[in-house]
Amino acid sequence: MLTTNFGPYTYQNPFMNASGVHCMTIEEMDGLAHSSAGSFVTKSATIVAREGNPEPRYIDLALGSINSMGLPNRGIDYYLDYAIKKQAEMPQDAPFFFSVAAMSVEENITLLKKIQSSAFEGITELNLSCPNVPGKPQVAYDFELTAAILKDVFSFFTKPLGVKLPPYFDLAHFDQMADILNQFPLCYVNSVNSVGNALFIDPVSDTVVIKPKEGFGGLGGAYIKPTALANVRAFYTRLKPEIKIIGTGGIATGQDAYEHLLCGASLLQIGTQLQKEGPAVFDRLIHELSTIMAEKGYQSISDFQGKLKSITD
Ligand code: FUM
Repeated sequence: MLTTNFGPYTYQNPFMNASGVHCMTIEEMDGLAHSSAGSFVTKSATIVAREGNPEPRYIDLALGSINSMGLPNRGIDYYLDYAIKKQAEMPQDAPFFFSVAAMSVEENITLLKKIQSSAFEGITELNLSCPNVPGKPQVAYDFELTAAILKDVFSFFTKPLGVKLPPYFDLAHFDQMADILNQFPLCYVNSVNSVGNALFIDPVSDTVVIKPKEGFGGLGGAYIKPTALANVRAFYTRLKPEIKIIGTGGIATGQDAYEHLLCGASLLQIGTQLQKEGPAVFDRLIHELSTIMAEKGYQSISDFQGKLKSITD
């Protein structure tokens, strides 16, 4: 019932982790591979391993989470070795995702050249939206830079590639970014990363709740669902049909998942709620989404995917 098509691929269900949650180590990634999730993505890798920002750097909030992890990861070789070995065990028509993020244009190119020349045959996610590296703005808020990076990348990269985007808040920005993305053979966009540079205050101590960047960090969870839905919908209605959408942001229940799919997502990433609940969240979401679909009389996701209704006279 929950089978979802994603370009040439078919996943048993649309649920997977959001990069950064439960995917730092081989043990965590194996935990996802053996869970009920339809797929999984690795932590965004840089060329060299990073410790990330000082702790506390992730805090659960009543309506979500705030984080400033700072791209802690074990370095691309750790994840690529794992991915190349792991892909042999996975169904070929449902490859998992390999995420990379960079501190510079040159690092992006080096990372992707390494993947291109490797035996990895899965899908690569280029993270253009990490808000948490001090002194490094989110790449995808710079439209010219994004276009230049993608032009460089597609001059040599021939494997399946998607991009992870930050949230946009203006229809003109949706139009501009979609115009850029439509020029390239992307297989998907992942919308959205956390809402960058939010600030949460502890009401008792009058302090910020995370240490890096004087408390500024990426907001996730229920706070951001309406923004995430708007971004999924905006790109679904603007991008060429070959570019699929991964919906990320505020999915904690089957209803949240249903809404992302209704807006046009094909796959769904779970961040904050996976952090709060662990991989058992996938069993619950599968059950809740299946129940909603049965109540509405739908046999498959394609029966309602993208079919959000507008109010007409
Ligand atoms: O800080 C982090 O590691 C987060 C990365 C991201 O949101 O892409």
